Amino acid sequence: MKKKKNVHAIYNIHLLLGVACLPTSSRLRRLPLLFAGAVVILLAVFAFISFLSPPITNHQLYHTDRHSLNTVLGVRANVQNEIVFRIPKHGGSLIHELWSSSNAKYYYGCSKASRDFRSAELKTNPDSYLMIATSGGLNQQRTGIIDAVVAAYILNATLIVPNLDKNSYWKDKSNFSEIFDIDRFISYLSKDVKIIKQLPEMEGNVMTPHNMRVPRKCDPTCYENRVSPVLKKKHVVQLTKFDYRLSNQLEKNLQKLRCRVNYHALMFTDSILQMGRKMVERMRMKSKDYIALHLR
Ligand SMILES: *[C@@H]1O[C@H](CO)[C@@H](O)[C@H](O)[C@H]1NC(C)=O
Ligand SMILES: *[C@@H]1O[C@H](CO)[C@@H](O)[C@H](O)[C@H]1NC(C)=O
Repeated sequence: MKKKKNVHAIYNIHLLLGVACLPTSSRLRRLPLLFAGAVVILLAVFAFISFLSPPITNHQLYHTDRHSLNTVLGVRANVQNEIVFRIPKHGGSLIHELWSSSNAKYYYGCSKASRDFRSAELKTNPDSYLMIATSGGLNQQRTGIIDAVVAAYILNATLIVPNLDKNSYWKDKSNFSEIFDIDRFISYLSKDVKIIKQLPEMEGNVMTPHNMRVPRKCDPTCYENRVSPVLKKKHVVQLTKFDYRLSNQLEKNLQKLRCRVNYHALMFTDSILQMGRKMVERMRMKSKDYIALHLR
């Protein structure tokens, strides 16, 4: 609103100057001088206005954007600020602003390991194996798998590809390799964490994991204090009910590892991707833009 007022003020000054400068025959010769004077006054007014108006901050940008977005979307706000959305009649013509943001250009992918990140080859202890018992729906299990990779990194352990939880919530009998590309998962992370498909046999015997549970949001020190000593003694540890068992406050290297797992290593199998593409194609046939909702 403030901006608009300023614009009006400038506009009015323009008009005034325009009137003052109306060329009558006697004033005609003094016109260049008058013009120069007007320019000087205008510049002074501009300087004054820009001095008075607050600097443009991100906050303000955000509001400006929202305002323009709302206008195009046809959002109406009444006195109580109750927002009413007007859905376009023919479905799909919502403009592009909806799919981008003015700050998007400042974001970039940052999952690449820094130079000081220690490689799996150098740090993995030969006789420590980490297993997890995933828990919950597929989404929650996926988060658990991502955290398990980071936990194995913290513990210098080899990770066994997790089995999916088929009982507690997600009643689907598919195993890991039917949902995720297991070879990609292992090879993509090979420099970060050693991952194998099955627990190896030790002197001809199948090793039995020692079960234990870590507290929720356990941080690296918590893993080092609680799990590491057990792992040194038992060699195979399975962390049970492994959901949200790793802190969200991790140093950058570990967060980047999380990103590598989630966005690069853990991919759905080709048949699932194909099905996904087919669904997207069908939606695109109806409209260029669409929204997918995860209902829960
Ligand atoms: C993992 O290995 C690094 C050395 O590569 C060591 O500094 C760190 O203490 C080890 N962590 C555990 C939990 O053994
Ligand atoms: C996963 O399922 C596939 C296909 O049913 C099967 O061939 C494979 O042995 C299973 N893997 C495990 C670890 O159960």
